[in-house]
Amino acid sequence: MQRVEKEIARLIDECDYDEVTRLFSMLSGGKRLRAKLILKIASDHEQAPLLAAIVELIHAASLLHDDVIDEASLRRGVPSVNATDGSKTAVMLGDILYSKAFTELVSFDKDIAKIIASSVTALSKGEMIDVKMADEFNSDEDKYLDMLYLKTATLIEAAAEASAILAGKDSSLHALYGRNLGLSFQIIDDILDITADEDTLGKPAMNDFVEGKCTLPYIYLYKVLDEADKKRLIALHTVVLDEQESSWIKQKMQEHKTIEKSFELAQKLSNEAMNAMKDNAELVGILQTMIKRSY
Ligand code: FPP
Ligand code: MG
Repeated sequence: MQRVEKEIARLIDECDYDEVTRLFSMLSGGKRLRAKLILKIASDHEQAPLLAAIVELIHAASLLHDDVIDEASLRRGVPSVNATDGSKTAVMLGDILYSKAFTELVSFDKDIAKIIASSVTALSKGEMIDVKMADEFNSDEDKYLDMLYLKTATLIEAAAEASAILAGKDSSLHALYGRNLGLSFQIIDDILDITADEDTLGKPAMNDFVEGKCTLPYIYLYKVLDEADKKRLIALHTVVLDEQESSWIKQKMQEHKTIEKSFELAQKLSNEAMNAMKDNAELVGILQTMIKRSY
């Protein structure tokens, strides 16, 4: 991972603007899941650290823009750039990061560049669908999962597929692994939004529903509630919840085991990915660690 951090630092340096270096140094790097995946799949390839740095810059850019769109003030436990330096700066920093990433991407084979580039179209489309869906209470599970695939899984899928091509490995099996890892990662994130506290999350707890996002535990809950409670749940959508309201939601979720049901889907997707990679202990390990994040 040191090689990836070095590549990221080099790319930032090449932007040749102190303000970019300063702002980038304020960001928390996060788990670097995508970079770790690329290094594990294409460990021996000399271009792997650069590909990992490119994907991390794209991911960082997407989060900068996402925090502007969501008006989020915290990211990974630190104030977001839109909170400290304003939305305009956050958008412009995101533009620089992702255009720099694309400049570097042209040094890769065309098929690899295309996989990464088209995943960015998909994730941008996913973000747009997500924002649109938040306007109304959504109880359609398939619609939600389609959006999740675009918004979160496509870049992880592309990272796995592209690094498999780089390493001369089976690209479709690795793509399946990446896709399911991404989906199950996001489902667990959605669960943690409800079950974890602000200190653990690095952002306010139970915030998805306030932002309008009807994640799986809410979708499953809606399906099993009686008419009066269905109405009560819809009335709380996009509302800043008080203690009593959030306790009611949590208690109903407990009663109907909707967190467990969501976790089962994450586990099913994760098992499929493990099966696809059963000979690769390291890739299986990434899934196991992810699924074990407490909830
Ligand atoms: C986080 O979702 C957002 C994403 C994973 C993707 C955001 C994508 C864009 C803004 C498209 C623009 C892309 C580029 C490269 C500039 P979330 O809000 O559900 O998660 P959070 O709780 O971590 O904010
Ligand atoms: Mg967000």
